[in-house]
Amino acid sequence: MNILITGVTKGIGYFLAKEFLKRGDKVFGVGRTFESLKEIEKEYKNFIPLNYDVSNIENIDKIFKEIESENENIDILINNAGIGFLGEFEKISWEDNKKIIDLNINSLVYLTHRYINDKKIKGGIINISSTGAFQVGGPYFSIYYASKSFVSSFTNGLSEELREKKFRVMGVYPGPTKTNFVGMKESENFYIMDAKDVAIIIVKDYFKGKEVCIPGIFNKFLVCFGKIIPRSLELKILKKIQLKKL
Ligand SMILES: NC(=O)c1ccc[n+]([C@@H]2O[C@H](COP(=O)([O-])OP(=O)(O)OC[C@H]3O[C@@H](n4cnc5c(N)ncnc54)[C@H](OP(=O)(O)O)[C@@H]3O)[C@@H](O)[C@H]2O)c1
Repeated sequence: MNILITGVTKGIGYFLAKEFLKRGDKVFGVGRTFESLKEIEKEYKNFIPLNYDVSNIENIDKIFKEIESENENIDILINNAGIGFLGEFEKISWEDNKKIIDLNINSLVYLTHRYINDKKIKGGIINISSTGAFQVGGPYFSIYYASKSFVSSFTNGLSEELREKKFRVMGVYPGPTKTNFVGMKESENFYIMDAKDVAIIIVKDYFKGKEVCIPGIFNKFLVCFGKIIPRSLELKILKKIQLKKL
């Protein structure tokens, strides 16, 4: 199979790429850090590096052109690259807030739109959201949380809409995971998962035919808990958690 993954130079995307590469799939991996892409290419012959910033829509057209020029067809698109900026909303610059929206929302929608139009029938889409999408909002992380709610709603809608066209669509909702993601590098807590374990679960769940993947027992509990506690209490707890990271 041919897999297109955004954000493979580190974190969850890196381990996702590795899982598919180990299976013998061909991975078209996107990232901005050239050296890291080269490292993966050195290790795996079935890895095709795509050194692009996907928050720029024109680069997405270039990515699809490169894939077409290799006469290849993508079986699964994985929208993984995502960013966030912690802090008081008004103190995060407009440019940084826009960067979140450009990458987490615009580029994800554009990639998905291009992919479905190219593929027309029978494909796979995995969108990486966050357990945050099940929560009411994220104080001091509000644009990021809102972007992941968008991803969740968009993914659910598409999964039903594309069923007849035989596209498999899965939404992934990781909780706190040890990566370079903002606030996670320094975090030490029993519930923080390894990016490798998260990637293994994502691949397993996709091939099991799941449409919703919540890696880890603690994260599943978190999602259920969020459904029963009052909104105001949930916001207070989330505020405490994010303030600790600031
Ligand atoms: N870690 C967590 O606790 C957690 C929890 C829930 C959800 N998630 C989600 O999981 C996904 C992966 O996050 P992570 O934790 O693995 O983060 P990470 O360690 O920061 O990795 C992010 C990846 O995205 C790439 N990337 C960032 N901006 C890009 C751009 N403009 N164009 C192309 N690639 C770009 C980065 O590579 P370059 O810098 O080389 O471009 C990197 O490979 C994100 O969508 C995140 O929201 C993470």
